Amino acid sequence: MTRRVRLVGDGVENPANARALMDAAAMFGAACAFRDTRGLLAAWDAERGGELDLIDTNSLIDQQWPIVAVENTLGASIVFGATLPGTQASIVVGGERLGIRADLLRAAARTVSIPMFGRGVNTLNVAAAAAVALYYLMAGRGLAPRLARRPEERRPALLLSRPKDHVEAGSAIRSAAAFGWRTVGLDDSSRVWYGVNRGVTAEGRAAARSHRNLIRVLPMTTGSKLAFRRIVVAGARIDGPPIHRVNLAGRDTLLVIPDEGEAGMPSFNSLGGSVERARIDLSVPTLHYRYRLVATIVMAEAARQTGLRPAGQPRLPGRRGLTYESTLSTVATGGAEEVDPAVLKAY
Ligand SMILES: C[S@@+](CC[C@H](N)C(=O)[O-])C[C@H]1O[C@@H](n2cnc3c(N)ncnc32)[C@H](O)[C@@H]1O
Repeated sequence: MTRRVRLVGDGVENPANARALMDAAAMFGAACAFRDTRGLLAAWDAERGGELDLIDTNSLIDQQWPIVAVENTLGASIVFGATLPGTQASIVVGGERLGIRADLLRAAARTVSIPMFGRGVNTLNVAAAAAVALYYLMAGRGLAPRLARRPEERRPALLLSRPKDHVEAGSAIRSAAAFGWRTVGLDDSSRVWYGVNRGVTAEGRAAARSHRNLIRVLPMTTGSKLAFRRIVVAGARIDGPPIHRVNLAGRDTLLVIPDEGEAGMPSFNSLGGSVERARIDLSVPTLHYRYRLVATIVMAEAARQTGLRPAGQPRLPGRRGLTYESTLSTVATGGAEEVDPAVLKAY
């Protein structure tokens, strides 16, 4: 069955996000268009971004191309188990500030949401959300969400390894926070995060003093032994079984997401424990690599496997014992940076 999918950005304002959406679509062999209600074309630089494909409301509300709205709204189905309504569809994501406009939400054949567990960060970067939606909707596997009484106790530790761009790093940290990680390891060998003038750092530090839901970013290196029983290295170019067949859950597990861009990757054999590999299936894996997109799909799959609490069941008190946070702290190479969730929304 040949499926035709177009990704549509509705009211996206930031040209860099529009470019990232085009890359997300390309990763899955999908077309990409924008309903421009917020001045995207005016801000667009065709020389740097390529041709911008615009679509109007009439063409969008077309019965031949049923709309799947990707939005965290009440009553939306969870994206993990969702499938496309037919052989062709428009998958719509919304603008950075206002999301999908009401007319398209009303016209949608179905609405899907990506479950969020974060305190203080409850949305993903728009392109990261699009990549997760495309991955689960187009896989057609209908991977159901798991249910778990204490999902927190099954959460693996997370190491973001050598992102090569600070926006990609920031977006990946935002995704981690939104999926509920409160501590994230970061190998910043490419020097894109720590000590970099990010413009928003000062504002973030000021906000951090008054905020309780901070995300701890711990400096780590990917070159030496890390004290975990299992290490799973996951990505789009990693040679391993499909990620949904590899167990990513467990507090004795470290999930490593390397930047698989052009420069060489570290050898993972020195990390200690048993090193397993896992690969996300993309239609066009070698082109259009972008760290935030691959990293967010890997985190979504880890969140799916870690589990959701059954509806209506209260959060159970945590049990004592080693947590991923305490284990990560023992292998950190320096003190944590505490990042305010409000800062992460800029990525
Ligand atoms: C940054 S969000 C929009 C912000 C949102 N209106 C708010 O509450 O602040 C941009 C777009 O990304 C997509 N998105 C982000 N997180 C999502 C999630 N958890 N589930 C589904 N869609 C999501 C949606 O399409 C959304 O319109």
